[in-house]
Amino acid sequence: MPSFEKCLVTGGAGFIGSNLADELIRSGREVRIVDNFSTGFRENLEEIDGSFDFVEGDLNDETVLSKAVEGIEAIFHQAALPSVPRSVEDPVGTHEACASATLRLLTKAKDAGVRRFVYAASSSAYGDQPVLPKVETMAPDPLSPYAAAKLMGEHYCSVFYRIYGLETVSLRYFNVFGPRQNPSSMYSGVISRFIDALMKGGAPVIFGDGEQSRDFTYIANVVNANIRAAEIADGFGETYNAANGERTTLNQLLEVLKRITDRADAAADHQPPRKGDVLHSQADNSKAVEVLGYKNLVGLEEGLRNTIEWWKNSRFADDVR
Ligand code: UD1
Repeated sequence: MPSFEKCLVTGGAGFIGSNLADELIRSGREVRIVDNFSTGFRENLEEIDGSFDFVEGDLNDETVLSKAVEGIEAIFHQAALPSVPRSVEDPVGTHEACASATLRLLTKAKDAGVRRFVYAASSSAYGDQPVLPKVETMAPDPLSPYAAAKLMGEHYCSVFYRIYGLETVSLRYFNVFGPRQNPSSMYSGVISRFIDALMKGGAPVIFGDGEQSRDFTYIANVVNANIRAAEIADGFGETYNAANGERTTLNQLLEVLKRITDRADAAADHQPPRKGDVLHSQADNSKAVEVLGYKNLVGLEEGLRNTIEWWKNSRFADDVR
């Protein structure tokens, strides 16, 4: 089984990137992180246990790219401007951060002789197809600029394997949650926002009737999928759903969180549905299970409890302490 020592995590100051860097360091790899702090935080870097190289800058900058990939065997490309609504506001910025930066990084990786390239793709590629669960053989149908830009990156990954032999693997993440997910932005993921609101005694906002559903996936499962993707011996140029294969509505999610946080009193603040929102999302994860050995290491409720514990000790809890 091919293994790797020297790896680059792009977006390593972000939620997924910093958790991934932690695990790579824990398993004895040499880690370099590149981040421009557009949505990442220095606090996440400070929480990483162990030493790593750090390059600050944007992946669309040639000098930054050169420094970032030098001597690297495997790249975990997590850097992006995540968020469907942000992309509706700023489609060009989203394209540059998600699609152009990916193409530049792939090109630099090929030229520098990097062997493996694991790409953070998005379940938003499936759009609102009525068939559930969503399986990789379905034709993509992006509904937002974010989904389109992320899908573009996937296509480039596939092409770079076919033409240049760069060993790319695309992981379509399905609503990843867990410690270090920033709850403080209007673009933040729903679980981080629900937890923040409940813990602060506020009312969680639900866009629409709350009957939309997602395949919420705990961070440890996605980190493990990334490491497996860097170790597989074939299956390159392909896409894999990275998710548990279960579906939870926002109303169900809120009930579980109200119970865990002791906020039975909390009532949702319903607001109009968001533009570009997908109604239902659930993965068929059998390809990832079979090829990557994907495992549901941590389920929804345990993951929510871990995330709440992290929140209690995080800077986000400061104003209620
Ligand atoms: C989408 C992608 C996901 C991607 C993520 C990046 C899909 C199915 N998923 O997530 O792959 O990684 O973008 O940001 O397209 N909501 C509320 N209240 C809130 C916040 C959100 O009700 O305070 C609702 C949203 O309207 C949505 C759901 O919760 O219906 C999930 O939203 P969010 O957590 O932002 O993720 P997606 O847009 O599903």
